[in-house]
Amino acid sequence: MSDYQTVGKVDDFDEGVGRAFAVNERMVAVFRRGDRFYAIDDICPHMGASLAAGCLEGNSVSCPWHAWRFSIVDGTWEDNPRVKIDAFAVRVVEDEVQVLVEPRRAAN
Ligand code: FES
Repeated sequence: MSDYQTVGKVDDFDEGVGRAFAVNERMVAVFRRGDRFYAIDDICPHMGASLAAGCLEGNSVSCPWHAWRFSIVDGTWEDNPRVKIDAFAVRVVEDEVQVLVEPRRAAN
């Protein structure tokens, strides 16, 4: 089952500072830019750093370990746009920030 899950209140998020949450057994990095919120996979596909701890410039977050850059809008790896990490829907309901994260499917 998937449904939006609250990860905090709007005022809990500072501009440009990522925060990581466990949602549906996945780690998700949530970012605020102005009145907009974005959510992507928190785990860097290179060696597993937390992207929430990365530096945000515009809509691009740089991994804190080796500086691979990802779009917080759609998860595109900006150094190789053929590759993407997952991006998740985010909504604000009243003052709650909510993300929609599908659980990973088990490999068959
Ligand atoms: S762990 Fe993210 S770029 Fe290396």
